[in-house]
Amino acid sequence: MTNKNINIWSGVNSIWTDSLANNQQPDGKALLSHLRTVHQNNAGFTEKCASSCRDKVGRNSYEWLAEIVPDIDGIRVLDLACGSGPLLKILYDRNKKLKLKGVDMCPEELALAKARLPDGVVDLLELKAQNLKLVNDNSIDVVLCHWALTLMNPITPVLNEVRRVLSSGGRFVALVNGPMDAAPGYSDVYNLIYEYVQAKLPKYGEIDLGDPRIRSTDSLRDLLSEAFPDAKINIETNVVSMEGPVAKVAETTAGFFYASFILPSEIRNIMLSKLSSLLTISKQSRDLERQGRFSMPINRLVVIK
Ligand SMILES: C[S@@+](CC[C@H](N)C(=O)[O-])C[C@H]1O[C@@H](n2cnc3c(N)ncnc32)[C@H](O)[C@@H]1O
Repeated sequence: MTNKNINIWSGVNSIWTDSLANNQQPDGKALLSHLRTVHQNNAGFTEKCASSCRDKVGRNSYEWLAEIVPDIDGIRVLDLACGSGPLLKILYDRNKKLKLKGVDMCPEELALAKARLPDGVVDLLELKAQNLKLVNDNSIDVVLCHWALTLMNPITPVLNEVRRVLSSGGRFVALVNGPMDAAPGYSDVYNLIYEYVQAKLPKYGEIDLGDPRIRSTDSLRDLLSEAFPDAKINIETNVVSMEGPVAKVAETTAGFFYASFILPSEIRNIMLSKLSSLLTISKQSRDLERQGRFSMPINRLVVIK
């Protein structure tokens, strides 16, 4: 890395990044405040990134998750941390008789979800996943959570709430990051982005968003077994990829990494140009649509209560 000019550094600042700068472990409040800052300024960004990547048979990660919801009229589904609502939209388009609820802590994200769905067809609630007070016990058949469990800390109250609201035999289905080595080149991308971020906040990475146990398949399984002692637990790994003009692929790729949001535009642009080189399949290719490629490992966990 060549340019580490700390003096021009601004980027997203929050009490979470302040804690890291002071070598302290941020608490849950700091985490929520950091996530709020990122999401209120960039609402809908997860959807832009995640809907661009597809697996070998052409599914994006929302579609892969939605497959687990039985196509039966009246099934009660809760999308936990629904963001801008892409998963709810897929489900609504598939079967208008599902009973859909979405929960998120960020009003800017919920506003996007509300705008894309006909009035009244989905119950959208501004709540934290740690306290789903407006959702009754045993009232949900499937709880979905797409790319958000990794951000939650404390995680135990979240899993306890999921268990409480799920009906007997109900399913908890979540999409989280998969093992780094499952996707070719993924760890190089991770290392490059974190190298730039760590030039400002050396602790970013050692300390990251959410509970670290969600990030490894084994510790995730242990955590789920504690929260759902009698449940059947299955974790599957998949890989989703995108190809396109390399600068566009690099920009979208950066969006998968919350860490990249702390970079101010000058540094971010330098990082993006290095990332473009890393993601270039072939400089000789005249087919711009196939010049850049990024692959991402994902895990789908299914817990049957
Ligand atoms: C990466 S986005 C995913 C959004 C959506 N599920 C998707 O995949 O498009 C993470 C979402 O989790 C929400 N979130 C994070 N922590 C939360 C918490 N503790 N309670 C409720 N929502 C939370 C954020 O507001 C954000 O909308």
